[in-house]
Amino acid sequence: MSNAFVRIKSGTYRNADVSGKSFQLVEQYKRTPNGGFVTVKNGGAFPGLPEQIRIKVAGVAAYEFVTGSDTAQEVVAAQDATLETDEQVMTRIRERFEILTEMTQAATTGDIRAMIVSGPPGVGKSYGVELEIEKATLFDQIAGRKLRAEVVKGSATPIGLYQALYKYSDENCVLVFDDCDSILLDDVCLNLLKGALDSGKKRKISWLSESSALRREGIPDQFEFKGSVIFITNLKFDQMKSQKLRDHLDALQSRCHYLDLTLDTMRDKVLRIKQIAADGVLFEGYDFEQVVQDEIIEFMNENKMKLREMSLRMALKIADLRKSFPLKWKLMTATTCMKA
Ligand SMILES: Nc1ncnc2c1ncn2[C@@H]1O[C@H](COP(=O)(O)OP(=O)(O)OP(=O)(O)O)[C@@H](O)[C@H]1O
Ligand SMILES: [Mg+2]
Repeated sequence: MSNAFVRIKSGTYRNADVSGKSFQLVEQYKRTPNGGFVTVKNGGAFPGLPEQIRIKVAGVAAYEFVTGSDTAQEVVAAQDATLETDEQVMTRIRERFEILTEMTQAATTGDIRAMIVSGPPGVGKSYGVELEIEKATLFDQIAGRKLRAEVVKGSATPIGLYQALYKYSDENCVLVFDDCDSILLDDVCLNLLKGALDSGKKRKISWLSESSALRREGIPDQFEFKGSVIFITNLKFDQMKSQKLRDHLDALQSRCHYLDLTLDTMRDKVLRIKQIAADGVLFEGYDFEQVVQDEIIEFMNENKMKLREMSLRMALKIADLRKSFPLKWKLMTATTCMKA
């Protein structure tokens, strides 16, 4: 990365006007079929968004280099002032997860037809959704209105997807696709989903070719989908590189509520782990004293650049090692969880 700073003369980021603002330059102007951009460091100007952002500009003339170390220092100071505090980060993350909970509830009542949840691995996406689905199924069993839900993990073929949509096509059904990115990247699957999630009153889906498998199972080659769908994915829809894929996913995104959990930076992830630990739920079941819990988190924080992943899942892996090997858990962690 360069040490250069640029002032945007005229440009936008996510439709927000950033004209007059200065940023640290990452990469000079680039032109794409969709327009051009200059890549700069976020520097806290847009909390919750990636470290590096692309400012839409008309060309190299739309920004100027800011020279002199004084100006550069001013930029850094100004950006520091807008940086989120730890508390603000934790509040932002907590709010996002509360929204995840509320949106999942709304899907179980049919108020929300479709939602995409995006976030890095091991931060609690599946956990949050599954907990709410379980609660809803339990409650509805008691209330005599049985919610039917299924979590599909891994992959699905187009015909498998068609069958799953049929099986859960009733109003009180929720279908969760957890880490099923292959269906989001397959043309036939995506077209089925587009039909299932269309915003019109009737959401008709058809299977156009003759299929003995469907006939055998008594599945019609056309039906109306009235259920709700939740997608959980590590893909960041708005950062997909391939234009073809982007257009494709845009069509799906436009039919869904899109919830990005915004755990993009290392700091975000560490704070999320601290938060869940502080809530007292992360190390539940390990019988660890508080000092041991703190020790694990501190160890993770010290080695954050070496760990293969910074996640709740990693915290639990290390907790396993701490429990089984109280004397050499650090060595075991270094060997099995850290980059060589
Ligand atoms: N709020 C929470 N309280 C306690 N434990 C949690 C919480 N959220 C997640 N966990 C635990 O953290 C681990 C990772 O969570 P989860 O499997 O939900 O991650 P994920 O975001 O779905 O990851 P991936 O994208 O890899 O599927 C699990 O073991 C889960 O039980
Ligand atoms: Mg998951």
